Amino acid sequence: MLARDENTPLHDEVAIVDEAITTRRSIRAFRLDPVPEPTIREILDVASWAPSGTNMQPWRVYVTTGEAKERVSRAILGSGLRAEKARGEYKYYPDKFFEPYYARRRAVGFALYGHLGIGKRDVDQMRAQHDRNFVFFDAPVGMIFTIDRRLNQGSWVDYGMFLQNIMIAARARGLHTCPQAAFAPYHQQIRLVLGIPDEEIVICGMALGYEDTSKPENNLRTERVSVEEFATFLR
Ligand SMILES: Cc1cc2nc3c(=O)[nH]c(=O)nc-3n(C[C@H](O)[C@H](O)[C@H](O)COP(=O)(O)O)c2cc1C
Repeated sequence: MLARDENTPLHDEVAIVDEAITTRRSIRAFRLDPVPEPTIREILDVASWAPSGTNMQPWRVYVTTGEAKERVSRAILGSGLRAEKARGEYKYYPDKFFEPYYARRRAVGFALYGHLGIGKRDVDQMRAQHDRNFVFFDAPVGMIFTIDRRLNQGSWVDYGMFLQNIMIAARARGLHTCPQAAFAPYHQQIRLVLGIPDEEIVICGMALGYEDTSKPENNLRTERVSVEEFATFLR
């Protein structure tokens, strides 16, 4: 077998890796086609090669399909607890938004509602769209991610790498994802149906499946600020 020099990038590999990263988008409408369990296991195995401080591997995943996934949806949608009233166990967003983050947040919200034809004051339709989170946007696989509450912020940094790895490994297999913090406020309902112990904090969920290309919400393309705007080069 030829020894491969891992320090020399092959152009094909650059293109493939970059494509897997840049074609990842948050997909909000999935086809019903199932994802074979061996594929899900493979994705999680690949993702687990994420680095973590002192190799602590702080991730814990509850993979739901079929009836188990529906139990999660029912527990949340049947709880009568509206998102504004539910409280997650950690703060994802700042208490008060400020620029430039506020403008970016608003832009993506309006863009999504624009694709769906939802008006700026149509609160009911916005809520209905938000509730689509809780059926994992019809994806065949719904994952819930937790972390031991005794762990510190560093482990949450590690966790992000693991989550991104899942999304990239999914892309490599023609699959799409949507990471979903929307689940965090419903940790009590989720805990109950999935048997998640008290010592774990629900970080987020993630939908996994095949994109339904016929749905307008999947036409959303988000933007990024340029490297010049976020990077400082000091020579
Ligand atoms: C940890 C995390 C949680 C998110 N939670 C949600 C969510 O609950 N519902 C949703 O529709 N999108 C959610 N998103 C998707 C973001 O809105 C999306 O990543 C952002 O707008 C950029 O768009 P893109 O993912 O298509 O590149 C989340 C993203 C991340 C990273």
